[in-house]
Amino acid sequence: MKEQVVERFTKLYGHAPEVVARAPGRIEFIGNHTDYNGGTVLGAAINHGVWVAARKAADGELHLATALQRGIVIVLARDPRKRSGAQHWANYPLGVWVSLPKFGLRQPEGFEYLAVSDLPVGAGLSSSAAIELASALAYLALTREQPSRETVVKLGRYAENNFVGVPCGILDQGVSGFGRKDHLVFIDCRGPRFETVPLPAGAHFWIFNTHAKHALVDGLYATRHRECLDAAQALGVYQLVDVTPAQLEQGKARLSAVGYRRAKHVVEEIDRVARVRASLAGGDLAEVGRLLTASHRSSQTQFENSTAELDLLVDTLAVTPHVYGARLTGGGFGGAVMALTDAKFSSRQAAQVAKVYARKFGSNPDVLHCETGDGAAVIAA
Ligand code: GLA
Repeated sequence: MKEQVVERFTKLYGHAPEVVARAPGRIEFIGNHTDYNGGTVLGAAINHGVWVAARKAADGELHLATALQRGIVIVLARDPRKRSGAQHWANYPLGVWVSLPKFGLRQPEGFEYLAVSDLPVGAGLSSSAAIELASALAYLALTREQPSRETVVKLGRYAENNFVGVPCGILDQGVSGFGRKDHLVFIDCRGPRFETVPLPAGAHFWIFNTHAKHALVDGLYATRHRECLDAAQALGVYQLVDVTPAQLEQGKARLSAVGYRRAKHVVEEIDRVARVRASLAGGDLAEVGRLLTASHRSSQTQFENSTAELDLLVDTLAVTPHVYGARLTGGGFGGAVMALTDAKFSSRQAAQVAKVYARKFGSNPDVLHCETGDGAAVIAA
C-alpha cells in the first residue's frame, strides 16, 4: 500500500510526497457504548487501514484527494467549511486540520494530500478514526511537530465530535493510535488511560460485513448517547460508570423502561470487559467467547442497537464449530459482526455462514480474516 500511495500521489501531483503516514482500522473487541459513559473497553488495531501521503504546497491551498471510493475525488479547500455528498470524506482531514490550533499545534498552511485505504468503509471497523489519525500524523510530520500519542488520539476525536459532528467516545481513535500487533488495547475512558494486553496465541478474528446499515445510523448513535446521559442524571451520577448493578436496581423506579434497559446494558457491559480481561490473562478463550456473545445479546435486547442481519450472523456463528463467540462490532444499527475463532476455523466454514445469511437476506456478507496490527505511525518522512 505504501508504494501504491506514493505512486498515485506522484502521478496526481507531478512529484513525490514528503511524508507518508498510516493508521489502522480497529475491531471493538468488547465494551459496547461504554466509552462515552466513562467505562472501559478492549479493542484491536487490525492489519488494514488508511495511508496518507502529503507535501507542502506554496499556493496556500489545501489540495485533498482520496482514492477511497471509485476513482479519485479531489476537494480544493482554501475555505475549510463542512462538505456533503461525494465530498463528505474530506470532513475528516479538514476537521483534523481545523482542530490543530485547539491543541496548540501549527497547521501546514498549504499542502497536497492523497489518502488511500484497504479498509472497508461502513463496516464498523472505523475507517473514520483511521483517516483522522493518518491525516494528523501527516500534517504533524509536515510541520515537524511531535506531540504525544495521546494528544494525536484526542485531536482525532475532537475533530470527529466538533467538525464531523458525531458525539463518539475515545475508543476508535485510542485503538488506532495505541494498537500493537498480537495485543488488544485496553482503555479506561475516564483518564483516559491506555494499556496493551497480550492476546493469547491461537485467537483469530473474522469479520462479516453485512453492508446493511440503518439509514439514520448517526442520529441513532446520538440518541443512545443522550439516553445514557439522561439515565446517569436520573440516577444522580455524572456518568453510568459510577453506577453499580445494585445501585441500578435500587434506582430503577427513577428511570423510564427504555432508560433502564440502556443503563443495564452499559453497567453490565463494563463488568463483562473486566471479566474478559481476567479470562484473557488466564488464556481462557472459551470464556472470553461466551462473554462476547453475551455482549451481543445485551445489544440485541437492552441497548437495541443490533439488526436482524447482525443477529442472524451471531446466531449462526454461535453454533458453528471452532467459534468461541461473536458480536456486533462498533456502534451497531448495521455494519459488521466479529467472530473470535480458533486456528481451525476456515474460509470454507465462513462461506457456509455466508450461505445461511444469503438464503435469508439475498446477498452475501463480505468476509475478512484479519490480523492484529500496530498503531498509527509515520512511515516515511
Ligand atoms: C462507535 C464510536 C465509539 C463507540 C462505539 C460503540 O464506534 O465511534 O466511540 O462509542 O461506536 O462502542
